[in-house]
Formats: sequence, C-alpha cells, structure tokens
Amino acid sequence: MQKLIKTVAELREGIDVVRRRGQSIGFVPTMGALHEGHLSLVRAARAECGCVVVSIFVNPTQFGPNEDFSKYPRTLDNDIELLAACGVNMVFCPSENEVYRKGHDTWVEVGAAAVPLEGECRPGHFRGVATVVLKLLNMVRPDAAYFGQKDYQQALVIRRMAADLDLPTEIRVCPIVREPDGLAMSSRNRYLSPAARQRALVLWKSLVLANELVEQGERDARTIAARMREVIESAEDARIDYVALVDPDSLRPVENIEGPTLAALAVKIENTRLIDNCILRGERRG
Ligand code: PAF
Repeated sequence: MQKLIKTVAELREGIDVVRRRGQSIGFVPTMGALHEGHLSLVRAARAECGCVVVSIFVNPTQFGPNEDFSKYPRTLDNDIELLAACGVNMVFCPSENEVYRKGHDTWVEVGAAAVPLEGECRPGHFRGVATVVLKLLNMVRPDAAYFGQKDYQQALVIRRMAADLDLPTEIRVCPIVREPDGLAMSSRNRYLSPAARQRALVLWKSLVLANELVEQGERDARTIAARMREVIESAEDARIDYVALVDPDSLRPVENIEGPTLAALAVKIENTRLIDNCILRGERRG
C-alpha cells in the first residue's frame, strides 16, 4: 500500500520503520506533473531498493521572479495513481511551509558547476535546487537518489554537492527519456500548443545534426554550434538562450571535439523554455 505523507515528522516515522526492517531506500525528488522520464527514475529505484520514496514539491526558491512557478502544472491525483502503479511505497508531498519553515535563512552556496549555462540564464536557480535537494535528502536519508540526465547541469551540481558535503547518499543519473519523435520528455511540454510541439522538435534535430557532423569528422565546435543554431532558428518563434559545446565535467567551452563533449541547449518556443542535451563522442587524437 502506497502511503501519502505530508509532514516531515510523519516521513521520519515511516523511514525509521523501513530502516528497522533493514530495507534500503531509493529516493526520487520531483516537482510532480509526472511523465515517463520521472517514471524511469522510479523504476530504477524500484529495481535497486527495498523501499521507494518519491517527493512531489514545486520548489519556489528555484524559480526566478518572472518564471513559471505559479503556472507550473500541478496534477497531484494523477501523479499519485502513476506512482502507485509503479509500486512506490511513500509519496511525500509537503506544503511550502513544511519545507521552508518560518525564519528559514540557510542556503547552499553552489560553486563553479552552477555558474554557466542555466546558471547564467536563471540566476539563483541552482542555489534553490541544491538547498531543497539537500533538505529532502536530510529528511529521507536515502541510500540512493535518482536524477535525470535531461537536467544535466542540475545532476552535476548535485553530484558536486554530495561529494563536497560528504553526503552518504549515492547520486544516480539516468538517461533522458524521449517521445517517439525525439522530443525530450518534460513537464513543461504540456504548455506547448500542438503546432509549437511540432516546432519544438528543432531541439532534437539540432542534437542529431551535431552527432552526424561529429561522426563525419567535423571537430570544430564553432562550426557545429553554428549549424545547430541554423536548425533551431528554422522554427519561426524559436529564441535561443544558449547552444553550448562544453566539457562534460567542467562545463567549460571546448574549441575542438576531441573527446566526450556535452552539447547543451536552452530554447524558448512559444514562450516555453525547453532544455535538452546529448554527449557527442569525438575520438581523442593520437
Ligand atoms: O528536477 C526537478 O524536478 C527539481 O529541480 C528537483 C530536483 C525536484 C528539485 O526541486
């Protein structure tokens, strides 16, 4: 039976019982509006752990003042049904006051991994993400926590935090789940009109092109990024936040594709901001 939990005290009681039984705990933090991408994380946790906990909390501190916090899709009843079908043991859906109690005034200061790309476009975003993830990890105390590679930089920031702050939880990063036509699954896809949903395929097409160019021997990052931009800009209302070819660990821009390179994009289509990425596998010379 799946338990719906709203308070930290109740969650701790439930976790203590699981621990006394000697079961391992897998944790999937989410903001709800669940799709196959989230469910793939839940299934990975289900396969590896005795008890699976999923949180559903739209975290206000990771949204900027002009972002979509108030309109972010909230589909709790449907989410709970999907999670029950995946065999989740506990769903933690706290209120804002339960997570950020009166007087909350402590934040995780994130470092270099949080500076470029999303960090530049969304100031303060990763401070909010890291703080809430650390709080949730302290509440659940899981053996493993599961994140999606679609939010590549988020996963990197969280891995860094877990290593730097000696968190006992293993951070697992699972592959991007795509629609059959290539669009990366995202809760924000549901903002798109059917026509914009079609135009949004330019993100995937630009990543496919980047891969093809690398396979054909192109190594110049500027050339590849320019060709990716052309594909994206073929969608009439596409507004590019960034098209970046960077080192997958440091996120520093690369000039030549000489080893695994992260191609990362953020693009607004019809005012919906979408992100996507893939690793380009350039061969090392020599
Ligand atoms: O990826 C998300 O949905 C959120 O950033 C997370 C990790 C649940 C923190 O609010």
